[in-house]
Parts: sequence; structure tokens; C-alpha cells
Amino acid sequence: MSEPSWWQRGAIYQIYPRSFSDSNGDGVGDLTGIIAHLDHLAALRVAGVWLSPIYPSPMADFGYDVADYCDVDPVFGTLADLDRLVAECHQRGIKVLLDWVPNHTSDQHPWFVASRSSRDNLKRDWYVWRDAALGGGPPNNWRSAFRAVGGAWTFDDATGQWYLHSFEEEQPDLNWENPEVRAAMHDVLRFWLDRGVDGFRIDVAHMLAKDPALGDNVPGQPPHSEDWPTIDERLREIRRVVDEYPDRMLVGEVYLFDLRRVVSYVSGGDKLHLAHNFVFVKLPWSAPAFRAAIDDFDALAEAASWPAWFLANHDHPRAASRFDTDGQGEARARAVALILYALRGTPFVYQGEELGLPDAEIPPDRIVDVDGRDPERAPIPWRPPSVAGPGAGFTTGEPWLPLVADAEQLCVEAQESDPRSALALVRRLADLRAAMPVLQTGVQTTLDAGPDVLAWRRQDGDDRVLTAVNFAPASGNLALDGPATLLLSTDPDRALGPVAGGGLELAPSEGVLLRLL
Ligand code: NOJ
Repeated sequence: MSEPSWWQRGAIYQIYPRSFSDSNGDGVGDLTGIIAHLDHLAALRVAGVWLSPIYPSPMADFGYDVADYCDVDPVFGTLADLDRLVAECHQRGIKVLLDWVPNHTSDQHPWFVASRSSRDNLKRDWYVWRDAALGGGPPNNWRSAFRAVGGAWTFDDATGQWYLHSFEEEQPDLNWENPEVRAAMHDVLRFWLDRGVDGFRIDVAHMLAKDPALGDNVPGQPPHSEDWPTIDERLREIRRVVDEYPDRMLVGEVYLFDLRRVVSYVSGGDKLHLAHNFVFVKLPWSAPAFRAAIDDFDALAEAASWPAWFLANHDHPRAASRFDTDGQGEARARAVALILYALRGTPFVYQGEELGLPDAEIPPDRIVDVDGRDPERAPIPWRPPSVAGPGAGFTTGEPWLPLVADAEQLCVEAQESDPRSALALVRRLADLRAAMPVLQTGVQTTLDAGPDVLAWRRQDGDDRVLTAVNFAPASGNLALDGPATLLLSTDPDRALGPVAGGGLELAPSEGVLLRLL
């Protein structure tokens, strides 16, 4: 393979700015707070950061309701702060991805305010307006992605029509059938690319193409509300814009569960560079299930289609909680880190995953999200509360969401001085990946290692490594057909170094990385 691109070499680290670090004591994280902690990211050798939305927003969906695509919300700072963040990242060799939210705007965006003002406004067709269905009611049976919202249409009294919102009522869908909308959204990309941003995560990329006839969704048939055949051309147009600039990258949120469809978004070299694989995120803790998901992607993908692996983000429960059966949550979160870093593909690490954070407990009176996602959005604990106060170094004020219960032990400062910590493990994984080309681009083969052990080999010339994870809550044997060197174990009690040819007894949920001799 030719020299890997920056986004193939190391991990991309997702920052959820509200919850990363608060520099001004208002309880909400901000850009200056991020800049203050870039050394943490440099120590993790991240290739890039992806910032969840930082644009002006009424925050109905915490920034995924954008009121101005070309500025920064005052709660996060200023455009000058963002320029400074990009410059400071670049100085450390870290690329910066912004979250582009093209499917919908805020209902406060001037485009929607105009669109809603009258049926003959020039922006009317920038959104999806329709008359009621025959006999009354919404134009079709599409549902919002948020269960609590229900139907995807809201009736607007002023002009007597319904508008589409695939998420909250405050997030009207743009009409991607309209070429003016496409051109305006492409210009948003250029605005940020001109400022030196290195690429984008595309929010709900699969929703940029819908049935223009707005046909009803029918269970068991391909949906009309997303992933319509026009998607290929839409993605190609977006890619052409980004390719006007050198070395930029697009990763799509492609929330589809048919891997053939997901793979098509990264095929042909003219659409996305990467697609988040939600099949992987939803897997049960089962070695055969993980193996099948890895093999299926490889079987469907062209050689040039590069996988992206992630097991957590701001919308999904954290691994340490989700896989916490049999008291194995902590050990499994460590195994997950190994899986992400050692598979062929780009690891995506959600802030706090490097600390093995669990979800936080959110008392009913602190719930703020419409869709139950507060637990995984709890702020990062930087310092022990016993030293830094209840804000744990995240804030000197009242945090917008409660922190995890065990911030004293889980905080960055405590983990930094503990060689047995999750943070020490993830730093070591990042060091190994940076130092070993075989972990970046080596050819990958999954192995048959019994029903409870997920194992795969990577090979680059004479360099061969084996990764194995014991999914069982009991110890299990890993057979080896020759001598090896143990480079890393997720079990801090395991001695590293030479391993005789016979095999290795893996502890419950233990993962190991071996160089084969
Ligand atoms: C996906 C984002 O990750 C999620 O947080 C958001 O609510 C929806 N898209 C709508 O933008």
C-alpha cells in the first residue's frame, strides 16, 4: 500500500465541546478550555480531533440545530478562538474536523425564518413544505428519529402548511432537491476549508437524499426518508468541493444497518473517505458477532475502502457501562480500546473513552436531552474533586450535567500517575500504533480461536502481529503455533516479554497484542 494518509495512521478523537473543559466558569465547556488541554491529546498521539458543533445555536439539540453555519456560539467562544484552536492543533501535528450539519438547520436560522414567513418567500423551497394529506393530517407517515418527538411533520399556522423535521420540531430539514440549498451548503464547506480546517464529520449523511415524491415508508422495504438513490451524486458533489483543497477528509455518519449500503458510501474513491459503522456500535459482547462484523466489512469493501471503527460517541452508551455484565465493564472497556487501535482501519475515540469512563447517573431533575443521551455526555473529570472541588477541574462553576460518580479515581490527573490506568493503556496503544507500520496498514486476517476469543493477524512483510481478546467472563486459552513476544496486555498484572510456543491463558475479558516470531 502507498504511504497512509494522516487519517489512516492514528486515531481521531471526538470532542464534545460542551463537556470537555470550561475555561470561564459558566458550567459549559468552550474552545479556550480545549486549547488548554491539547497536550493531553498530543500525549495520545491523536491524528485529528472532530469537534461536535460549535456554531451559534439555540441548543434545542445542543448545537445540532445550527442558526449560523459560519460563526461560533458565544457559549463556546469566538471565531478568533477557533482560528487559535486550529493553529495550536496544527502546531502539534493534530488535524481538525468540524461537524457539518447539512440535513437540517435550527428553526431560528435566517433561512428558515424567511422560508416560514410566507408561501411565496424566495427561501420557501429551501425547506420541505407540503399541504396536508387528503383528508387532513401530515403529508406522509415519516417519523422523527427521536421517539419522544413522534411524527416528522409540524403544521405551521401562519402559512397553513406542514414542514418536515427528521429530528426535533426546532430542526427543520433543508430541501436538498433545491440546487440553491446544495450550493449554499457547499459554500459553508469552503468557508471553513479556507480557514484551514482539515475536513468534516457529516451529520446524518444518509439523509441528504430522500424520495422527492415523499412516499410513505413501508416496513421491510427500503425507506423513502433516507438513502435514496440520489445519494451517490450528492456525495460526489460534496467530495468535489473538499477535493478543491489538498489532504482534506470526510467521514460520514451513515446510520444504516445494511453494510452493503454503508460500504457504498466509501466506494469508488469519489464519495466519503470514511463512514461510521453503526453495525459495530450495536454489537452484543460476543466474539463471533464482532468477527462477523469485521469480516463482512472486509468482504464487501473494495481494497481502497478504509474502515472506521468506533464503539462510542455522544449518542450511545459508553462501553464500560453497556458491556458491564458479570462485573466486567472496566476490563471490557480496556479490551475495546485494544480492538479499536489494532484493527485495520481508523480508530475513533470518544472523549473519556481513554479514561474508561462509564456513563454518569443523571437524576430526573437534571435531564436535558430529548432522547436520553445525557449519561454519555457527562463532563470530563480532569482533577480529583478532593483537590479541585466538585467540578473536578472541568469547571469552577455548576456543570451543565453531573459528572461521573467516581471522578476522584477516574480523573485524568489520577490516571496519569498510575501505570495500571486505562489512560496508560491507551497511550501505550497509541505509541505502538505510531511506531509499528504493521498496525497501521498491515494486511488483516481474522482467525479461528474458539467461540469466546476474537483473534486476528496483521502482516507487513516479515512483521506479523496477533491480537486476541477473550470475550468470556472466565479465563480461556489462546493457542499459538510458535514463539512470540507479548507487547501489550489489557490486564495490568500480566508480565510482558517472551511467550513460549504453546499458548497463553487469557484472563476474563483480557486482550493481548503479540509479535509473532
Ligand atoms: C446525529 C448527531 O450525532 C446527534 O447528536 C443529533 O441529535 C442528530 N444527528 C441530529 O443532528
